[in-house]
Amino acid sequence: MRSHCVKVLGTGSGIPEGRLTNNDLEKMVETSDEWITARTGIKERRIVKPHESAATLSLQAAWTALERASVSPSELDVIIVATVTPEMPFPATACILQDQLGATKAACFDLEAGCTGFVYALSVAEKYLRGGGGEKALIIGVETLSRIVDWQDRSTCVLFGDGAGAAVLGIADEPGVLATYLGADGRGGPLLELPAGGSRIPPTSETIERRLHYIKMSGNEVFRFAVKIMEEASREVLRRARVPIEDVDLFVPHQANIRIIDSAAKRLGIPRDRIFLNVQKYGNTSSASIPIALNEAWEENRIFAGDLVLLVGFGAGLTWGSALIRW
Ligand code: UT7
Repeated sequence: MRSHCVKVLGTGSGIPEGRLTNNDLEKMVETSDEWITARTGIKERRIVKPHESAATLSLQAAWTALERASVSPSELDVIIVATVTPEMPFPATACILQDQLGATKAACFDLEAGCTGFVYALSVAEKYLRGGGGEKALIIGVETLSRIVDWQDRSTCVLFGDGAGAAVLGIADEPGVLATYLGADGRGGPLLELPAGGSRIPPTSETIERRLHYIKMSGNEVFRFAVKIMEEASREVLRRARVPIEDVDLFVPHQANIRIIDSAAKRLGIPRDRIFLNVQKYGNTSSASIPIALNEAWEENRIFAGDLVLLVGFGAGLTWGSALIRW
């Protein structure tokens, strides 16, 4: 009989080589390493070179995850790419990736849920496989935020970075993804948006001049929302899985700001040694942040077979999501 569990079979990442440090930013806008470190925990971020894009980073992450999962592209039933910076408005980055991988039988689509994108993709793919859509899924979180950051706006340009993370999921006999929880509140949309370039404000020379093709954010409001929702989303997914918080081996939160992570962890009573942190190296990579962290935690032997891993994210939309995984 067909099993109804979905496991993570392998992870990978695509990290651009270009580095931008806080000291580099000091030469670009009125800021300081002290301010950025104290307010965000970020020391540097990775930035794509002109020849790199969402597809090149995704491809790198995908090959590593497929190799570690011992899955070939032809076995994939679905590819989901979570991103706010796709290769282009259409076709979907997932279709471009499918062609490059030769994953000919996979259904492909992109998903946009702000920084929660990867958790959304995980939840959708898990339900797709469990619902009979196939045996294997490739999910990616990828961003080239350096292409939509306003490099003259010090309140946002110090925060974001580029990268990709991937996971291969498969039907298995033993439990893997134990529970997921997704939510959204569209009333908070204006708090974090890229106003132009869509059907409401199509691109014109005026929209470019008014810098409407860049990220606009109300940092304080997003901060307050983030701390509250990280706690709520963590508690809800644990409630759904009937797992006490003490049993979680590793907490892998969206890497937006060390202060958000610390405040949420304090409310949840999670000690620092059970939290994975890499915001200092990559900044906020939106959809890519959680899968990059998950992959790095695995590479650094912070996750072992049988461990309980809690993913939790929040982002533009506003959106939030959490997932509890038995590794
Ligand atoms: O993935 C979801 C995406 N977004 C987030 O997670 C962002 C959530 N928000 C945050 O992380 C924080 O709100 C920020 C890091 C963006 C800002 O930190 P804050 O402690 O909320 O600072 P603030 O916005 O209240 O600004 C304090 C001061 C202001 O100066 P005045 O008005 O007090 O004189 C800012 O102008 O810091 C100033 N400031 C800066 N100073 C130096 C803002 N950005 C900078 C900067 N360097 N880069």
